[in-house]
Amino acid sequence: MIEVIEADGGIQLRMPGSDTPAEVSWRWLRDHGEDETSRDPETLQRRVDTFSIDASAKGRVELTDNDQGFAIHWPDGATTQHSLALLAEVVAGHVATDWSRSMPADFRLPDDVVLWGDPAAAAPDEVKLDAFLGTDEVLAHGVDQLSRYGYLVLRGSRHNPQLNRERAEAFAQRLGYIRHTIFGGMWDLAPDLTEHADTAYTSVYLAPHTDATYSHDAPGLQYFLCVQPAETGGESLVVDGFAIAEELSRTEPDAAAVLASVAVPGRYIEPGVHLRAERPVFRTDARGVLRQVSFNNYDRAPFLLPPELEDRFYDAYGRFAELANDPARRVAVTLNPGDVFVFDNWRAMHGRNAFTGYRHYIGAYLNHEDLESKRRVLVGA
Ligand SMILES: [Fe+2]
Repeated sequence: MIEVIEADGGIQLRMPGSDTPAEVSWRWLRDHGEDETSRDPETLQRRVDTFSIDASAKGRVELTDNDQGFAIHWPDGATTQHSLALLAEVVAGHVATDWSRSMPADFRLPDDVVLWGDPAAAAPDEVKLDAFLGTDEVLAHGVDQLSRYGYLVLRGSRHNPQLNRERAEAFAQRLGYIRHTIFGGMWDLAPDLTEHADTAYTSVYLAPHTDATYSHDAPGLQYFLCVQPAETGGESLVVDGFAIAEELSRTEPDAAAVLASVAVPGRYIEPGVHLRAERPVFRTDARGVLRQVSFNNYDRAPFLLPPELEDRFYDAYGRFAELANDPARRVAVTLNPGDVFVFDNWRAMHGRNAFTGYRHYIGAYLNHEDLESKRRVLVGA
């Protein structure tokens, strides 16, 4: 049986057959409650706001009768529930990992991108969707803008709404082909949770994130065609992840190094599906060039770091989240029926303002290599 011992910094777990207890900090425990307030019971997506957790708050452990877990009572009045099953799982993963390999990593940015940490200072040209679909010069310009900035807005013209799906498909074919996932090829995004167990299918505010941290090869591009905008709110939000990486590497190199080296697991769970993958927030290529930013606190899976690295990780991850949620860094895109909004899911974090009314988008994913290919072929870059 697993023995739980309350300690100053958190709890110690003595696993069967192991002499050395595993330490789990109070902060980690507050971040990994299994009660309804801490996480969604159906999707297991995180509900607790990781970034407002008081790292110095100590809890009081109350063991339950059935030996399956325990509750923690916190100074602010909250109570979280914890299972020994989850703790045994993360401790096993922790023991199996050689953390000394997680060394600080230097990186530099690709030299052909335009950063827009201040969106007022730099923005891609808007493009007309009809011209993008019909004219190679406009396609080349759009591809170049999308590659440099990481997002692009294409304004639609009045057309028969019954052609929405055809136009969404035609857009994909101009760049490559639709990437199929568990969401299908093209999907309808509307507030209807019965279709997929994900917060995207609701009407609440979505904090900036990248999609598919649970996929080894996260889709490189995501796009939406607006069928029906919300009555109020519902603007799409984008934030430049590369600009955040650049700023952190300049001003807080330790945080940048932690984010470039600690592999963060993501997961997606619904009946019959359990996807899981991991990579650092800043993924670099063999030359040390930043190629991908991955950040999704909703879908972050439980994992345990050594205490010293855990503090550095939470601080760095929290600093990243602070910058990602800074309203001064975000672009709010209002779409009208027929407009398309496409962004680089390896760079631009996206979110959504809360909305009222019925908001209906058609969405799909594309591969990153297909955008890169189009750029080489059409622009020569
Ligand atoms: Fe998303």
